[in-house]
Amino acid sequence: MTELLTQVVSLVTHGDIMVATVDNPPVNALSHSVRAGLRDAISALESSDAVRALILVCDGKTFFAGADIREFGKPMREPLLGEVIARLDACTKPIVAAIHGTALGGGLEVALACSYRVAVASARFGLPEVKLGILPGAGGSLRLPRLIGVETALTMISEGKHIGAAEAAHNGLVDAIVESDLTDGALGFARRIIDAGGGIRRASELPIPSFDPALFGAARASLRKRFRGYVAPQKAVDLVEMAVAIPFAEASEREYETCRELLGSPQSKALRHLFAAEREALKIDGLSADAAPRDIRKVAVVGPGTMGRGIAACYLDAGLSVVLIGRSDESLGKAKGAIARIYESALKRGSLSAEEMESRLSRLTLTQFYDDLADVDLAVEAVTEQHDVKAEVFRKLDAALRDDAIIVTNTSFLDIEELASASRRPWNVAGMHFFNPAHVMKLVENVRASHSAPDVLATITALARRLGKTPVMVGRSEGFVANRMLSKRTREAQFLLEEGASPAQIDRVLSGFGFPIGPFALADLAGMDIMAAARAARRPRMSDREKSCNIVDRLVAAGRLGQKTGAGYYRYDEKRMASPDPGTDEILEAHRRDRGIAPREISDDEILERCLYAMINEAAKILEEGAAARPGDIDVIWTSGFGFPPYLGGPMFHADQIGIRTIKEALDRYSALVGREYFQPAPLIERLAAERKGFYG
Ligand code: COA
Repeated sequence: MTELLTQVVSLVTHGDIMVATVDNPPVNALSHSVRAGLRDAISALESSDAVRALILVCDGKTFFAGADIREFGKPMREPLLGEVIARLDACTKPIVAAIHGTALGGGLEVALACSYRVAVASARFGLPEVKLGILPGAGGSLRLPRLIGVETALTMISEGKHIGAAEAAHNGLVDAIVESDLTDGALGFARRIIDAGGGIRRASELPIPSFDPALFGAARASLRKRFRGYVAPQKAVDLVEMAVAIPFAEASEREYETCRELLGSPQSKALRHLFAAEREALKIDGLSADAAPRDIRKVAVVGPGTMGRGIAACYLDAGLSVVLIGRSDESLGKAKGAIARIYESALKRGSLSAEEMESRLSRLTLTQFYDDLADVDLAVEAVTEQHDVKAEVFRKLDAALRDDAIIVTNTSFLDIEELASASRRPWNVAGMHFFNPAHVMKLVENVRASHSAPDVLATITALARRLGKTPVMVGRSEGFVANRMLSKRTREAQFLLEEGASPAQIDRVLSGFGFPIGPFALADLAGMDIMAAARAARRPRMSDREKSCNIVDRLVAAGRLGQKTGAGYYRYDEKRMASPDPGTDEILEAHRRDRGIAPREISDDEILERCLYAMINEAAKILEEGAAARPGDIDVIWTSGFGFPPYLGGPMFHADQIGIRTIKEALDRYSALVGREYFQPAPLIERLAAERKGFYG
């Protein structure tokens, strides 16, 4: 008979074994009702003379995915997770965790406090708290090292790395892999334990396996490089070092304190905000639940240039078939070679097998003829960024494609409405704006045009997810969201240069803020010719000052194209190490002389504020125009696309931490200094400042 312990935990007894089943959709987070149910299940086990073991299993798609993030920041209701885990640990009869899906965070901590763990072969295990700026707080950092060794545990805790069932079985985290039905397998396992007279096992009582104490120093140094600016990974090393040095009970208290402290930290708030914003961004404004995505199996990519190649690789990687269409055998051959090289380097790195490479390339066909596109479900337009060229491609696609096929444009700057109107099926047209290199960059700005059908929007969202990307839906706007905001930062960086700052100073300030690379080092990497082309495309919409601020053109004229020519803003040695270059100084001095600008000392604060607030001000305009649906979408775009430090939550979240009034005052100051046309506060900023509110209320 099934007994309901709480709304989400039920108990069934099979002879002398009890099975507690948890069903708390969507991911069986350890909410209050789950914790209470688990406590009651343990009590039922302890109080029954007839029952000799308990199995913990979850319904739905996964084992416990962790603490309930929605309860963070609210008063916690008892029993707390730590109490439930202490009860599991203290239990005098064996408890078996039966795991499928992902056992994450508090979910893995529950499993670690059980006597045994069995899992299906596809199960995954991890302590990903660090990604939310916190650390395990219920024994994870104490039990895991005892079970699987200090070094592996440290990696899992400090990097939030997941491991699969095979590895978990190999390192002692999992006792058995279940091939059959999970509950049946767990029942069989428990039966064998009971029959063999096997009793309880407590990870808390295991000795610490031997380890090299030098590993902590090495981990700190490596994490400092790989997670620059993040607090929690460093704290993770302190925590594990402490956990293996002092008695369990004392370590357990200190672990809880560390977790609580981090929970209140600004970084954790920012990272938790992003976790929610990324999921929110998948919910498309105005899209009803019946807008189901269409089935996409075969795609055409028109344009075998840099973007077309990268985009084709993304689709091949995700298992789709791709027809690449170009204007000559030569350009198509080059594109195929470039795609093959992407795979060859993955093969060399060991991240791709030879069979998989062959399978991907076998799904790629090349053609010059639109007639070959009759059976594709979706066509990607990735040709030259010129309206006439793209409109011509749209007309050809219209003639060649099935009526229900979708056309997506990869345009960065052109007007999506005008492009859609070049097609006789505007309801089947939308944008999917990838970033270079397309097969690496996570962000995809999906663009809705006024006539895009709801199921087309649902399709491009699902498709981008299938490609492993982070899609954010944006609306009509020049440069959409990412590039439109970036162009304001670029403008200010250039103005600051001509006013007297150096590339090295500006790069130092912005990378010190947390961007992975400064704008000038990035320009040298991308190539000055690319920067000059982007500038030329924007020229008709530039102010007189922007037109005259032509340092990029001067560098190109001097043959300084960046890393590829050994010099750009910086000079590069054979190992591509950058150093400041007197040649650049001379170009800058000549430019200032020609423009009649007397260079001045510029403070780091001014550099940061002008670059950052120009972006935030533009973002406020984007929000008002509705080109982004919510501030969270902009935060996701900038953290996943352009390296805005995630631990600051994205530009909108960060703006609220600074205070909109402070930003408005600075914008007024820079309006006076640089010009109103550049820094006049957006009406939304004016309003929020007056109401003493932030973008998030
Ligand atoms: N607490 C509360 N809700 C959670 C949650 C948690 N720990 N983990 C996920 N969810 C919610 C998501 O917000 C989402 O809700 P929504 O549909 O209302 O947007 C839903 O569960 C599905 O999550 P999603 O990430 O979209 O599903 P997925 O199948 O891609 O991934 C997981 C599932 C569990 C792998 C992923 O959600 C995850 O990594 N969760 C965080 C785990 C974690 O950090 N645990 C430690 C917490 S201390």
